[in-house]
Amino acid sequence: MQQAIAILDSGVGGLTVAKEVMRQLPQEKIIYFGDTARTPYGPRPAEEISRFTHQIVDYLLQFQPKMIVVACNTATAIAIEEIRARLTIPVVGVIHPGARAAIKTTRNHHIGVIGTEGTIKSSAYEHALRQISPQIQVVSLACPSFVPLVERGMFRTDETTRVVEESLSELRNYPIDSLILGCTHYPFLADIIGSVMGSRVTLISSADETAREISTILYHKGMLATSNIVPVHQFFCSGEPRMFKSIAQTWLNEQIKVTPVVWQVP
Ligand code: SIN
Repeated sequence: MQQAIAILDSGVGGLTVAKEVMRQLPQEKIIYFGDTARTPYGPRPAEEISRFTHQIVDYLLQFQPKMIVVACNTATAIAIEEIRARLTIPVVGVIHPGARAAIKTTRNHHIGVIGTEGTIKSSAYEHALRQISPQIQVVSLACPSFVPLVERGMFRTDETTRVVEESLSELRNYPIDSLILGCTHYPFLADIIGSVMGSRVTLISSADETAREISTILYHKGMLATSNIVPVHQFFCSGEPRMFKSIAQTWLNEQIKVTPVVWQVP
């Protein structure tokens, strides 16, 4: 049996990471879990986010994955160290890869970070950025309205444009040349965010760099898939699966089967 890479998120956001893993590592099987019944995680207390993340990890462990990818910035900021401490398989988050990608991109050392309330409150990006490059100037902004819009599939509506414009207006006063999309949902809104911020600001999504990190870890551990058989990915979500399936099929550009999971624990 081929061991899968298990990817989890509060909803559809982690699909931005899954898509990049599929592109960079086409032989790898993916098992994806979106906690759509309890999205968004951003406004929830840390204890709750941590408990939900452990619960999803426990669910995914039944498939004996070779790696867990916490493709949710909020869950990474709050729970990744606890998850790492519990497991013997590699556990990859999305914050350090995003920070690395931004450092590679910036020319003027002014970086913006947008994310959920939970991620911004944790200061996880500031820590990750300053750990790599102490002279970096960071400006952070919580954008709590974005995740619900993405989960409703509202990627290009007038309402979304208005919300993004209003949310980012303050950020446009700063001399940033790179903006970290510090929530895996935000790449779904990249066209609108990009046009609001203007061409002098490069948008950084952690998906690309996270997939590279996954690839590097699997290579060094001798765990890369060797089979030439096209993998059949599996998708699970905790809420009503119709919207999740529609967004996933459009984003991944392939037909998928989604299995709904009903939590026993609220
Ligand atoms: C959320 O569910 O609020 C956001 C997920 C993320 O932070 O990537």
